[in-house]
Amino acid sequence: MSKEIQVLFLDDEESIIDGIQRLFIREPYDVFATTKVAEARAALTKYKIKVVVSDYRMPDISGIHFLREVKEQYPDTVKILFTGYTDFSAAEEAINVGEVYRFISKPWKTTELLSTIRQCIEHYDLLLRAKTKEEELELSNKKLKAMYEVQKEFTSTVSHELRTPLASIKTAIDLVVRKMVGEITPEQSEVLGRAKKNVDRLKRLIDDILDLTKMESGKLQMNFMVNNINNVIKETVESQKDVATSRGLYLKFELDENLPPVPIDTDRITQVMNNLLNNAIKFTKKGGITIATVNKTEGNHILVSVKDTGRGIAASGMSRVFEKFQQIESAEKNEEGGTGLGLAICRQIIERHGGKIWVESKEGEGTIFSFILPIQERRETKI
Ligand SMILES: Nc1ncnc2c1ncn2[C@@H]1O[C@H](COP(=O)(O)OP(=O)(O)OP(=O)(O)O)[C@@H](O)[C@H]1O
Ligand SMILES: [Mg+2]
Repeated sequence: MSKEIQVLFLDDEESIIDGIQRLFIREPYDVFATTKVAEARAALTKYKIKVVVSDYRMPDISGIHFLREVKEQYPDTVKILFTGYTDFSAAEEAINVGEVYRFISKPWKTTELLSTIRQCIEHYDLLLRAKTKEEELELSNKKLKAMYEVQKEFTSTVSHELRTPLASIKTAIDLVVRKMVGEITPEQSEVLGRAKKNVDRLKRLIDDILDLTKMESGKLQMNFMVNNINNVIKETVESQKDVATSRGLYLKFELDENLPPVPIDTDRITQVMNNLLNNAIKFTKKGGITIATVNKTEGNHILVSVKDTGRGIAASGMSRVFEKFQQIESAEKNEEGGTGLGLAICRQIIERHGGKIWVESKEGEGTIFSFILPIQERRETKI
């Protein structure tokens, strides 16, 4: 069976070339040895050469020149300089500037020459394998990114398209429930009431998905205005007070009255507060919720926290709460439902403000969600 030519030798001395050819007979690869530069160049185009060994002093071209030429055209090949002892410093210099991988001094010892070439072939194979892996990774990364983009675009378009028919269903149900199109029985009204509730839920879900996809792709327009967050908090709490009291839960404020106004997108911060409060109420059966604000002027930010005395979050679930579609299992069942998008949206909103949001919890005892917002306008400018 013929062996593959993997090594090229270039030396102007006929006797050396003859010797070389015989030397490699037992190796698993073949060598191409020549005294002529033109033949060496031709061999490089014809065979898959892994290692090039070139003499240093030759009449037509210097070894360094030839190897530089090889490097430009075949950057992956491993290059070796063949030198007499007198050219030692030139060889060392070539190695230092990265033009040559090794040098072999003449006269060479057979075993040394063979093992050096073997090592060089291994080096080549290793590099090639690493390079292929890297290229494969890069390609699959690119594919993944493209798929992600398509998915985002799809989600955004579909959600948008769902909104219009949904609005029309909602209006139709409303018209019937409000008896604008004729009398209905109490039973019919009750059935439609359930339908309406589910339409509302679906609408919230679609809005959440749209919000999140927009935020994730940085397309959500934020509207910053300097505002006192205490007022925003009081209004949000007011809107959820009835639900909390109907469940026998207290709602307590510990608001810092000297809180400096901060630049916020009021609607978005209201959305954050709504979800944190909604969660706190949803996951608390006894006790209640305390909402606190603290001025951390020395740290250049304000802190808002929502503390409840509810079921808490298992340690194993803590790292997942801010991820989308994550709902953490608990011994205490939750009948309220939800999608698991609320906190993912909260995190996006707070981060777009240049702030941070985090959670502390003890299972069975309660949970504190806190976020900080910078006092000065330093969000967005750096994004
Ligand atoms: N105050 C809390 N106490 C206990 N668990 C909580 C609390 N807040 C959040 N969690 C856990 O984190 C999960 C994710 O909360 P998130 O607000 O993102 O979603 P959700 O409330 O389930 O649904 P959605 O907000 O989309 O209606 C919840 O399902 C719950 O397991
Ligand atoms: Mg929620």
